[in-house]
Amino acid sequence: MPNLPLFGMLPAMLWNLSNIHEYFTITLKQSGGSEFHQKFEVLGDGIFNSDSHIWKHQRDILQSLLNQNIFQNFFTKSIHKKLEGCLLPLLNDASESKTIVDLQNIFQRFTFDHICTMMLAFDPNCLPSKFTEFQEVVSEKAFNNIGDVILNRHFFPRTLWKLQKWLQIGSEKHSISSQQIIDQFLHECISSNLDEDKSRDINCTQEDEPNFNMFKALVKESAMEQTDYKFLSDTAINLLLAGRDTVSAGLSWFFWLVSTHPNVETKILEEIRANFKTSEENWLSSGVENLNKLVYLHGAISEALRLFPPVPFEHKCAIKSDILPSGDHISPNTMIYYSLYSMGRMEQIWGNDCLEFKPERWILEREGRSNNIDIPSYKFIAFNAGPRSCLGKSISFIQMKIVAIAMLWNFHFQVVEGHLVCPRVSVISHMKHGLKVHVTKRSN
Ligand code: HEM
Repeated sequence: MPNLPLFGMLPAMLWNLSNIHEYFTITLKQSGGSEFHQKFEVLGDGIFNSDSHIWKHQRDILQSLLNQNIFQNFFTKSIHKKLEGCLLPLLNDASESKTIVDLQNIFQRFTFDHICTMMLAFDPNCLPSKFTEFQEVVSEKAFNNIGDVILNRHFFPRTLWKLQKWLQIGSEKHSISSQQIIDQFLHECISSNLDEDKSRDINCTQEDEPNFNMFKALVKESAMEQTDYKFLSDTAINLLLAGRDTVSAGLSWFFWLVSTHPNVETKILEEIRANFKTSEENWLSSGVENLNKLVYLHGAISEALRLFPPVPFEHKCAIKSDILPSGDHISPNTMIYYSLYSMGRMEQIWGNDCLEFKPERWILEREGRSNNIDIPSYKFIAFNAGPRSCLGKSISFIQMKIVAIAMLWNFHFQVVEGHLVCPRVSVISHMKHGLKVHVTKRSN
């Protein structure tokens, strides 16, 4: 990709903005690499923005927390609660009132409520149970703005966005106001979580069973002597951004692909029916281990993430000289850009049918039994690979499976005729115009 002295990669990117991911795919095929520059200042010193021993320390802490049983139980319990309390009633409302629904917007609200409940022990209730109750939530909007700010810093030369920031104009104006809203929101959540009396109220269910409290767990795990607000809020913002947009983008593309491939939808429903015999209990009573039986669903979700990875591109910087597997020599301080989107669509990696949505690709039939094929992360790159691979991969699959089962079992979704579905140019690959669908209740 041309990298001009004054303008950097901006002209080439702007020229190809309307089909940026295809452009990256072609560039990658032709050249195999490029320099990229950006700054995720809004993420503070959290895990995404740190390196070496500071990163390692955070990774160890988060890995240990996300693997705890109490975290995983709370995670699934909160999904069920949000599904039963909001998402399914809302879809029921849509089917009865014949309202056209933007599934992407619904998933954004659903995942924001869920990740805030998990990480902050606070449910902002962005997702209502009725269409008449939809409203804008300030903290959610601030998080959306932050995504746009990060994107702009990818496209504009550093000097330009720094100037914008200094003058408080353009997208940088929103960065400051959004940051302030988020800081205040997080500060309030941290205070009430660490306040013994309040947190006892927040973190107990009706059955008086203690729930997971991320901030207390972080304080304990990091052996913090005094409350380090900056560490807690940087960690929170990193986890909120890591776990919210990615899952909602993944779900949106999955539902679009399933609703445009009726044969896949039929097979998913057959699999649910075969594994969860009674329609009443199917997803509600299923433990996480039962989800593993849904081999075809796993294939369909993996396939959606391969074709539309929620994180479409990444960049890394070489700290010392190296040689890539392609044989290219890398000098110290070289920024390497790689496209996860393109890697999911390379014939060399996935074969001639790489552009087809084929859940079967992930299934091995042997001796009358179906199993999922374990594809190495360097090939299926949606969750990244190596030391900085995603820490939320397994919980993301759990969340996406539970939501998919509950929604597909109860409703049929049909994309509104003429609705254009294409990726929005962003650090997270959402749909540019959302996912507008008709919802019909299913009789099983
Ligand atoms: C479909 C959902 C998800 C996808 C596709 C995804 C993808 C990724 C990718 C590509 C990275 C590498 C980023 C980089 O190196 O710059 C990453 C890192 C990470 N993800 Fe996820 N993610 C998802 C969900 C989650 C969830 C739900 C969580 C936890 C709440 C999470 C936590 C993390 C963390 C903590 C890292 C940083 C790892 C490190 O730097 O060592 N992710 N994810």
